[in-house]
Amino acid sequence: RDPGRAVMRYAQRGTADQYLGRFHLTREKLQEVSERLRKDLIRGLGKHSHHKAPVKMLPTFVRATPDGTEKGDFLALDLGGTNFRVLHVRVMEEQQRVLKMDSQICAIPKEMMQGTGEQLFDHIAACLYDFLLSHNLERETLPLGFTFSFPCEQKEIDKSILIRWTKGFNCSGVEGEDVVKLLKEAIRRRGDYDIGSVAMVNDTVGTMMSCGFRDQSCEIGMIIGTGTNACYMEEMKNVKRVEGEAGRMCINTEWGGFGDDGSLRDIQTEFDVVVDEMSINPGVHTFEKMISGMYLGEIVRLLLVRLTEDGLLFGGRTSKALLTPEAFETKFISEIEEQDNGLENTQKVLSKFGLKWDTVDSCVVRLVCDAISSRSARLCGAALATLANRIRVNRRQERLKTTVGVDGTVYKKHPNFSEELRATVRLLAPKCDITFLVSEDGSGKGAAMVTAVAQRLARQSRLLEESDGETDDEEEEEEEDQ
Ligand code: BGC
Repeated sequence: RDPGRAVMRYAQRGTADQYLGRFHLTREKLQEVSERLRKDLIRGLGKHSHHKAPVKMLPTFVRATPDGTEKGDFLALDLGGTNFRVLHVRVMEEQQRVLKMDSQICAIPKEMMQGTGEQLFDHIAACLYDFLLSHNLERETLPLGFTFSFPCEQKEIDKSILIRWTKGFNCSGVEGEDVVKLLKEAIRRRGDYDIGSVAMVNDTVGTMMSCGFRDQSCEIGMIIGTGTNACYMEEMKNVKRVEGEAGRMCINTEWGGFGDDGSLRDIQTEFDVVVDEMSINPGVHTFEKMISGMYLGEIVRLLLVRLTEDGLLFGGRTSKALLTPEAFETKFISEIEEQDNGLENTQKVLSKFGLKWDTVDSCVVRLVCDAISSRSARLCGAALATLANRIRVNRRQERLKTTVGVDGTVYKKHPNFSEELRATVRLLAPKCDITFLVSEDGSGKGAAMVTAVAQRLARQSRLLEESDGETDDEEEEEEEDQ
């Protein structure tokens, strides 16, 4: 991954390297980062320490991964990336498959992302109605899985309080409120249809669960898209905020908030600081802002502007487009770093930006993109290694074999992101053998899966009760007597 170092002009190379070097993280540094995150996971899980913990470690009330016997028809809503989607999903037991029957995308206009909560939920309820109507489902009351990809304090599977918006959303009157209640109120305001039971799901959980149907050792879900985050199965005895010691529960780590207490200051560059200050949520989601698709393009843009102003690119001349915040999309990074057509793609992007480039400039631009995307991949790798190591130690295993369900455009579309991420995990979690499963439509199908697993568990516990109902009654009576 060194496209143009050889052809770079001597002076250009030296000074550009000074900037790019700040994005390079050594193995020791990555190990340190992983160790800091390990401590933060423990803080987040603690009964008393979690209030102030930057990594929130949210209980999800998902207590089991699929066992392959789940089935049924479900509705799924998916809000949290670039689009809002409604889906009709069928979980088929026999073939162990989750089928997407139909789906529909509804755009959420930018004004709505930052308008009132009522407007947003009215829009969601209207999109759902359109979908039901056009698929003749308006008279059914199907259970609904709601993938809502923001940090939520879940009280139960159907009670989920938004802690804060991320990723460019900032609707008023939603933070601190129960999202299920807001959805149901919006549907009630319309009065023309109803929904069945609701299960709230983070996209990481949906991803883990949808991969879990195919591979039952899938116990980690990870997203590297517009935002970044991961969830994993934790031992109940360590989840101090939820009663009960037995079994496991899926924890939504919300690792995007890592560093919000200043713990990543040593690796933040001046460009990261600007990206944070210019964002709509300064001071929060520090780790996410160094990693995810919403921010990578902007970091590259700021760096290109600086290099140009220092006379190291484009003959020292910027352009209006290059000076426009957020104009450099993260997808350009993937195009620019493509192995075969990368150089050509770079030149197309630079021309589109109205820049006067030569071959050396395009090579430098590729190096800039490489520095930023590599750092992102390696930081994610370090964080994933922390989770894998934790699961291994939790289970007192010499070696851990586990599967990670992954989704998100950065992971899927970037030419060598996944390779670099895996290499870092191998380096920092040498005793863990990790299989990566790319999830297809995990947040939609996964929401249905969570609902299906919840139903299966309810069905199983009903069967259990029915089989020895009398004993249960006696026990209850005894308790009442005391
Ligand atoms: C949110 C997470 C989500 C992640 C990936 C973050 O901004 O806080 O809840 O899982 O983005 O979509």
